[in-house]
Amino acid sequence: MSHYSRRAFLGDSTRLVAGAGLASSLSLSQPALSKSSISANEKVRIGLIGCKNMGWSNLREHVALPEVECIALCDVDQTILDSRAADLQKMTGQKATLYKDFRKLLENKDIDAVIIGTPDHWHCLNMVYACEAGKDVYVEKPLASSIEECNIMVAAAKKYNRVVQVGQWQRSGPHWKSAIEYVQSGKLGKISLVKNWLYYSNRKETPVVPDGTPPAGVDYDMWLGPAPKRSFNQHRFHGSWRYHWDYGGGLMTDWGVHLLDMAFYGMQAKTPKSIQSSGGKYFFPNGAMETPDMQLTAYDFGDYAISWEHGVGATAGLYGNNYCGVAFIGTKGTLVVDRDKWRLFPETDNGQYIIPAMPEQKSSGKDLAFHVRNFIDCIKSRNKTACDVETARNVAVNSHLGNIALRTGRKVYWDDAKNTFVNDKEANAFIKPTYREPWKLPKV
Ligand SMILES: NC(=O)c1ccc[n+]([C@@H]2O[C@H](COP(=O)([O-])OP(=O)(O)OC[C@H]3O[C@@H](n4cnc5c(N)ncnc54)[C@H](O)[C@@H]3O)[C@@H](O)[C@H]2O)c1
Repeated sequence: MSHYSRRAFLGDSTRLVAGAGLASSLSLSQPALSKSSISANEKVRIGLIGCKNMGWSNLREHVALPEVECIALCDVDQTILDSRAADLQKMTGQKATLYKDFRKLLENKDIDAVIIGTPDHWHCLNMVYACEAGKDVYVEKPLASSIEECNIMVAAAKKYNRVVQVGQWQRSGPHWKSAIEYVQSGKLGKISLVKNWLYYSNRKETPVVPDGTPPAGVDYDMWLGPAPKRSFNQHRFHGSWRYHWDYGGGLMTDWGVHLLDMAFYGMQAKTPKSIQSSGGKYFFPNGAMETPDMQLTAYDFGDYAISWEHGVGATAGLYGNNYCGVAFIGTKGTLVVDRDKWRLFPETDNGQYIIPAMPEQKSSGKDLAFHVRNFIDCIKSRNKTACDVETARNVAVNSHLGNIALRTGRKVYWDDAKNTFVNDKEANAFIKPTYREPWKLPKV
């Protein structure tokens, strides 16, 4: 079936009248795409929502695949939209339709899948609406800004039978996989601690600046979306939004989901018995960043612990690594993995290694490309992606637990089955965000 005829077929014969959910409020009909609606030989047509930084990096990897084309771009910043449209045309010859409102992009029935590269506070609305509109979704990490949004996104993917890949691309990296295999082989002995860290060295303080006016061409109200209304400030906008609670969770969630995902994966861990966290603005007390620039979090599983630490301002981090890493510490050896490589540090007895040494295992350098390849393959096969929405939910929730322990200032106990903190009203208040009108937390 040709591209045109397939889409015409879907539009005419399988369109359902939207039910009581969001689709009706958006006047979006649900194409209700069936399994394997895109055949192996057909092109996958992509729309990108949020074009500046990571959204664009993702799109570049998508359009590098011969069976993918980008037909739509959306951004609330006209300058970024225009420059990415020009970049795309130069790179691929493709001329995309441009949108400033993602809801309009989702009405385009020729789009099979969307990439969501917006700030975290938008992910839930972008993704749930996209699922309702029958699009498969590549959504950036962390899955969402709150625990409840993560739950809603899992429910939406399931209800609308969508293929979802979350941008934790370590999941597709061959050297990460071989590190995890080694950890799970038992060769490290009893693992009692998994350390995760992220350090930015040589950072300077970002000075506080007065509020101003949004740059020309920016729909600032649409940038804020469900977040509280406030006047524009350049340090709470492109890129730096992640250091403000209204839009992100600081480095605990921004980087936490990448590295803790590997720690949880290696240990096949889900929910810790307790979570503690401390930290604050210790490097730059007067800087513009609102979230902690130093934070230490401990997840206690009863017979082992997973720790998180970050620092913005100094040092390259632990084990001589370059800024980030995960160390699985066992009785027979320690395995240290980062984005470049993994290394083994065997324990010694009388000067002898007690497990055989291993040469350094290098990264392919193509982990993001593999992750994108996996998404496109799964769109066609309808198989589970390398980082499906449930996997991403688990690590996003645990990263949020770290922040909630920090913000309540005490040890917290999370009951995942009941989606609640045990006897902790103050912690429970963090589960569900308050959306600014007219945006509503989706009901799935
Ligand atoms: N996987 C990774 O390695 C990785 C790396 C960096 C960032 N990220 C994630 O990617 C996401 C984006 O981060 P970034 O650094 O690219 O942010 P950014 O601020 O550089 O870019 C976000 C873009 O989204 C646009 N935008 C905001 N609201 C929008 C809306 N309602 N509709 C359309 N466009 C909208 C902004 O104008 C901007 O162009 C975040 O979730 C972040 O955590 C992932």
